[in-house]
Amino acid sequence: MSIPKNRPPPVTAGSSHYFDPKPVAPSKPRSVFLHLGELALELQADRGVFGSRAVDLGTLALLREAPAPPPDGEILDLGSGYGPIAIALAKQAPKARVWAVDVNERALELTRANARAAGALNVTAGLPDEVPPDLRFAAIYSNPPVRIGKLPLHALLQQWLARLAPGGSAYLVVQRNLGSDSLAAWLASERYEVQRLKSKKGYRVLAVRKEARKP
Ligand SMILES: C[S@@+](CC[C@H](N)C(=O)[O-])C[C@H]1O[C@@H](n2cnc3c(N)ncnc32)[C@H](O)[C@@H]1O
Repeated sequence: MSIPKNRPPPVTAGSSHYFDPKPVAPSKPRSVFLHLGELALELQADRGVFGSRAVDLGTLALLREAPAPPPDGEILDLGSGYGPIAIALAKQAPKARVWAVDVNERALELTRANARAAGALNVTAGLPDEVPPDLRFAAIYSNPPVRIGKLPLHALLQQWLARLAPGGSAYLVVQRNLGSDSLAAWLASERYEVQRLKSKKGYRVLAVRKEARKP
């Protein structure tokens, strides 16, 4: 497996990260705007939460390039941040239930408030343990937290991809210089079918499915 040239900085004790459960940065909410086809949303972001200045370019690439969500069933946004992916999916598929999962409590509060404001009442935001363990997802969408480090990221993806329903797909966006190609190679080595849907402005959008078992 190739090693990304620009590795994410190591996680060091005492520093602050967008994946801290309780961010130490004082709250300073600001509006960010998401435009996706007919959909125009004003969302509240905040310090201590990923992408607090503007909707992330990778998030936009995922929402623009991945297939539309299934019209119903359970959908997962893994690592919801303030909720741009979960809310966009929920607006596109109002009959589906969209689970927005994050470890950052400030992010989850923002996701709930943003979903309410957008009228996306089919979003349920919570900590990973709050998702019923028997739920299986028709689709998973994620701009995953690569900065937690490679092994924790692999463990996280293994945990949630195992919960794809039969025939379900996951759509992931990862920056090329943060290891998208080595992540794709690792997924393939774990017996997932991986297809590169788009490579745009340094981001790769991957479609991931369970490999059909040979008889
Ligand atoms: C790259 S950000 C994407 C945020 C948001 N979806 C967006 O597009 O703006 C990844 C998110 O994953 C969250 N995260 C980190 N570790 C996690 C874990 N173990 N389970 C769920 N989410 C996690 C982070 O807190 C962060 O909000």
